[in-house]
This record gives sequence, structure tokens and C-alpha cells, in this order.
Amino acid sequence: MKHRSVRIPAFLFAFVFAALSAHAAAPAPIVLTGADVRPAVSLDGQWSFIPDQYFVGLFDSRGHEKSGGYFLNRKAKPTDTSPVEYNFATAPKLRVPGDWNSQRPWLLYYEGPVWYQRDFTFQPIPHTRVFLHIGAANYRSWFWVNGQKVCQHEGGFTSFNCDVTAALHAGSNFVIAAVDSTRLADGVPTLQTDWWNYGGLTRSVSLITVPDTFIDRYDVHLERGPAPSADSTIAGWAHVVDAAPGQSVTLTIPELKAQTTSIVSPDGNAAFRLDVHGLVRWSPDTPRLYKVQLTAGQDSITDRIGFRTIETRGTEILLNGKPIFLRGVCIQGEAPYRLGRANTTHDAEILLGWAKELGANYVRLAHYPHDETMLRAADRMGLLVWSENPVYWGIQFDNPATLAKAGQQLEEEIDTSRNHASIIIWSMANETPNNDVRTQFISTLAARARQLDPTRLISAALLVRTQGNTKIVDDPLGASLDVIGANEYIGWYEKRPEAADTTQWQIAYQKPVVMSEFGGAARAGLHGPATQRWTEEYQADIYRHQLVMFNHIDQLRGLSAWILMDFRSPNRPLAGFQDEFNRKGLISDQGHRKLAFYVLQKAYKQKSVGKPE
Ligand code: GCU
Repeated sequence: MKHRSVRIPAFLFAFVFAALSAHAAAPAPIVLTGADVRPAVSLDGQWSFIPDQYFVGLFDSRGHEKSGGYFLNRKAKPTDTSPVEYNFATAPKLRVPGDWNSQRPWLLYYEGPVWYQRDFTFQPIPHTRVFLHIGAANYRSWFWVNGQKVCQHEGGFTSFNCDVTAALHAGSNFVIAAVDSTRLADGVPTLQTDWWNYGGLTRSVSLITVPDTFIDRYDVHLERGPAPSADSTIAGWAHVVDAAPGQSVTLTIPELKAQTTSIVSPDGNAAFRLDVHGLVRWSPDTPRLYKVQLTAGQDSITDRIGFRTIETRGTEILLNGKPIFLRGVCIQGEAPYRLGRANTTHDAEILLGWAKELGANYVRLAHYPHDETMLRAADRMGLLVWSENPVYWGIQFDNPATLAKAGQQLEEEIDTSRNHASIIIWSMANETPNNDVRTQFISTLAARARQLDPTRLISAALLVRTQGNTKIVDDPLGASLDVIGANEYIGWYEKRPEAADTTQWQIAYQKPVVMSEFGGAARAGLHGPATQRWTEEYQADIYRHQLVMFNHIDQLRGLSAWILMDFRSPNRPLAGFQDEFNRKGLISDQGHRKLAFYVLQKAYKQKSVGKPE
């Protein structure tokens, strides 16, 4: 039989290839330390979006990933033999970065998959690799470039980078994302939280081009040592991808006239130490940042890093070798005034400006890693930071998959943000149930955090037992922590405000204790007797009595009031008082300072709370 050569039309071949590669398992995303200081092509702006409640754009009726889903960005043609039932070209637009909930009234409660699409032009450069950088996508996300799957990710608050080198071509390209904000029973966090489940590409998206050999992770810090002197030792390391044999890494700190070069070992790591003279240590009073340059072959990163040490000695927290008391407040990643996820330098400077106005030297960024803009602002403005992995309330502590997810998010958090002088504490969890399985789960995370970053303190916000008028801090998890965080709400969730005056504290650990949450709610502008719940006077009274109690907790070394600003939460429906907002803010979401703000501000400004430093 004569074989006719069968020629596959080019367009059909391209379609089949794209369909097959769309379906192939994409490589895992990577962490890029300091991604926000690398030159990048921003993909922020208006993206087409299509809500897809049943996720039919990616899965068939049996739950299998389709090979011909929305990610192919098909356009209907007259010759089609079946309809194309989506069209990004005519779809409405969403702003990126930004959650979708706060961009359309009809999306406020939407929880599920949404497709995003945008076109972009690009000119690839020989001998380089290109990464699609995603600041955060809540909660699961999948990405395709020109119809080719490039990565997928789970976790709503950490950045990740997908290698798109092979999928890009010169000229016009398109990127498509599917983001599914559905909460998962085995997720981190899990089904219940006390914050709005803002979905979407909630932080910036960009393209980062690096040489074939590049630095993906690095750490530059001040070594702990004897009392501060004019001479200090800066230490650290860089990890180089695809390093050539004998590759070196050079660290330069021009303002200190310091430079050192190290050879990359076969595992890609290059360690360095160098003595410097005349370093000004970073602190809330002197938030001095230095230009730090790392080069490896053709790759070069210029970061701005502050140098300080943080450690504990007995029940003291030592910043640069001196005892410090953390005068702080908690902050959710909610934007002031406009609401929705906070994701700009402007948002960060307003929120941290309010914390400074309060007299704070410290903020607890609850309950998940915040945007890099917040950490950069804290570095610049001189605020110490508690950063938290979203192991929140009752996650599935007996599920190995959940532990893997928590560990992945912890590593992404630490490796992305490890050079911020402002971060002094990595918090492993918030208010988790005291049982052996949980303690094992979080102790595993704490050990991993120490391995990743031995230069910072490990903590967690613990639930506290109550016996009569005594608070007992004896959670076994405390053994794995450097700093004990304790949450309590005397006057709001238990007893009357004045009960705090006579409350005793029994702490089973000779470690620094930070009151990681305390306070109560008030509807801004609602006034009445101090005995009337929801009035500003009642909230202020809680704070007055809390301050009395704090001054007789000998090993108290810090406070973070819950919370700086009212924030949206589905758990708070009480009409006229909450209206789906948690109203424990010292400031309303519209910037109204409540009376309690001034009670705490007075104590912080006069330093009348906490052992004198
Ligand atoms: C808990 C929890 C917070 C919550 C707060 C509250 O302690 O840690 O996330 O918002 O209390 O009930 O307001």
C-alpha cells in the first residue's frame, strides 16, 4: 500500500504541542531571595478575568486536568466544529496586584477559581533564564505562558518564581493564571480563620531575567559577638545555580569599604565572613541600611540590608547586646481606607506610620507572611517585626501532607525575607490546640526554622490556661521556643476589665514572654459609660486594666495589642457594631483613632509599661 506522507498543518502541530505541554507536569517554582530588588519587567496592571466556579476551564467532569482548557487562550474560528466557550479578549479586567473580593461588589463573597490573562511583549536575551515572579496568589494557583504550563503553587502569602524560559518567544506572548481561593481542610491555614479570605493575585507579578548562572538565595547578617564595638564581623552565604567549576561569589559593602570573595563549593554554596570597621548597627532608633552587592559571574544583586543582632539571655531579649522591651501592636494585611489586601508601599507606610504614632518599636505581622513592601518599610522606618507562618488554630496536625505544606510555606517565607533587619522573630503558629500531635508538628517546624536561619528567635502565640485568677503558661510547645507568645483577652472574652488588676501569672519557662494578643472591640465613634460593651470607653478601660497587670509580670518583655486597625472578617456579623469587621482595632479602617489608642500611646511614649531597658 502506497504510504502518503501525512503533513500536519503547522497550526495544528502548534496546537497539539501546546495542549500536550500544557498538560505536562511543570517544574516546581523556586525561591528568589531579594526578588523585589532585582530588575524586573512588571506585569502589574489590568488583566482579563473569568470566574470559573466549577473550574471547568481546567478539570473535566472526573476531576482530571484537561489538555484543552482555558489556558490555551483559543479564539473562535468560523471553521470550528465545536464552540469556544470563553474569551479573554472580551472579558472584564481586574487590577493586579489586588484581591478580587474588593474590586467588584459581586465578588466580595466569591470563593473559588478565577482565570486571569494578559498579553505582553518580550525580547529574550541569549544565555539567560526568565522567571515569572508572583508575590502571592491566594490560595492555590496554576500558571501557563503561551499555553505551556510553567508551574503551580499552594499557599496564599509567600512569593514564588516559575521558570518560563522555554515557554517564551520574542515579540508577543501571553500569560494565563488560574487562582482558586477555596479553603482546604488539609490547607495552611485551614477552613476557619478570623480574616476575610481575599482571593487572587494579591501581590505584584513580574518577569525577572537572570544569567544562566545566578544567585537564587543568599544571607548576609551581623554575627553575634561580644558587646558591640567599632569592629564587627559580617557573615553569610550565597547559593549559586549552575555554578561553573571554580565559580566565585564576591560580597561588597561600599560604604564600609568592605569586600570579600569566596569559591562556590560543588553544592552551589559559597560562605563568607569579613571583619568591618565603623558599622552603624540597625535599630528602631537608628534604622541604618547599607548597600550590599553580591556578584557571581554575570549575575549581580544589590540589596539594602541593616545589620543588628538579636538574641535572648535568660528572660531578656537583647537587641545589639542590650535588653529591649517590645512595645508593639498586631497588624493584619488589610489596606487602610480602601480595604482589601494591603500590597503597596503606600499601604505599608500608612499602617507602620500609625504604629510609630502609637509609640511602637515593634509590630506583629499577623497571621501570615506580609508583602515585601511592608518588610522594606519596616526596615526603613525602624520597626522590629514578628513574622508568622499561617499555622493558625486547628489545622490537620496529624496529616503529613499538611506538615509538608506548612514546611514549604515556612521555607518560602524565610528564604525570601531572611535579609530584613526588621524581622527578629519567626513565629511558627497562632493559638493551636495543646496536644502531642500538634506539639510534634510545630516543634518539627521550629527545628527546620532554626536550621534555615539560626540568627533569629523562634516563637509562637500560645493559648493560656486559666485557674481562678491565675493565668498559667505551661504549654509543652514552649520548650521549642526562644520567646513565649501568650494571647489573652481578660475583659473581652472572659471576666470584666478590672479582673486584670488582680490576675497572677505562672510561667513554666525562664524565657522572655511577649503578650502576643490582648484587647477588645469598640465601634469607632460609639460613646457611653465604660461599663457598656462596644463603646470606645469600654475598650479604653480594658487597656487601662491590662497595663496594670502587665507591670506585675516580671518576665514580660513585649506587647502586641490586638489590633492596630479594624479588619474584615466573616466571623463578625453583628449589625451596627461589627458589620463583618473585627472591631478590635485601636484605629478604625477609616483612620479614626479610638480612645484606647491614646491609652496605649501614653504608656508607650512614657515607657511606663515593661521593665526599663
Ligand atoms: C484570636 C486570634 C485572632 C482573632 C482574635 C479575635 O486570638 O488569634 O486572629 O482575630 O483572637 O478574636 O479578635
